[in-house]
Amino acid sequence: MANIQIRKYQDEDAEVVKELFTLGMSEHVPSSFTHVLKQPLTQMFLMVTFCALITSSKSFLLPVLAVTLVLAAVRQMVVYMFNKYIEATLRKDLDNIGGIYLQKKNSCFWVAESDGRVVGTVACLPAETAPGFLELKRMSVRRSHRGMGIAKALCRTVADFTRERGFPAVILYTSVVQADAQKLYEHMGYTKIREFVLPEFTAKILNFTLFEYRLDLETDKERD
Ligand SMILES: CC(C)(COP(=O)(O)OP(=O)(O)OC[C@H]1O[C@@H](n2cnc3c(N)ncnc32)[C@H](O)[C@@H]1OP(=O)(O)O)[C@@H](O)C(=O)NCCC(=O)NCCS
Repeated sequence: MANIQIRKYQDEDAEVVKELFTLGMSEHVPSSFTHVLKQPLTQMFLMVTFCALITSSKSFLLPVLAVTLVLAAVRQMVVYMFNKYIEATLRKDLDNIGGIYLQKKNSCFWVAESDGRVVGTVACLPAETAPGFLELKRMSVRRSHRGMGIAKALCRTVADFTRERGFPAVILYTSVVQADAQKLYEHMGYTKIREFVLPEFTAKILNFTLFEYRLDLETDKERD
């Protein structure tokens, strides 16, 4: 692994942490757009629009133009949804990392530093949906520093923290469009325990699936 130090978050990291989160999330726009295009409902809608316009207008140009416009609109919708999620997350916790992650016993926020520059983040706190477990959150590594084992080191930091506090498992959520993250967690021994679609209307029609992963830990008590 490159020369990387993992340390606890400090207030002066605030802006770079928000930047890493925003960049990490925004890069899923293309894969989300592809996911939407693969859905039978989207394909049916595009096909019906194309056929209806070609029959009614007897022109090839109009349906091609209309389908292009629909595709552009769908892409804008995906961008809008990601921006909304990013803004909500910044408001909900990344604008107050000290208060949310650093003042409670079973929560923490870490950054990975390379040559004095913050290049990765991860956090952990008690899981809202699974009482008795900790949840890994906010995993992100700067593109220029990918493939160097930084995310693996951040995963191990969370597992050690969880084990030291006597919790039996770490859980996390990721989504169908985050293929690298799925590979990372499976590589680190996490098991996919649940797949579900969020109840929101747009998530349902776009079949936007979330995956819940769990890493079972051997606690210090069990080892003694
Ligand atoms: C997922 C992410 C954190 C991985 O960071 P990373 O530092 O490059 O990961 P590592 O170098 O530690 O790789 C760990 C393992 O993950 C898997 N992996 C990570 N990226 C991969 C890729 N592009 N293709 C295949 N496997 C990949 C591999 O198994 C790898 O182990 P190996 O190199 O020994 O084969 C990074 O791609 C990222 O920040 N993505 C955007 C934000 C995001 O999606 N976060 C997850 C939120 S749930």
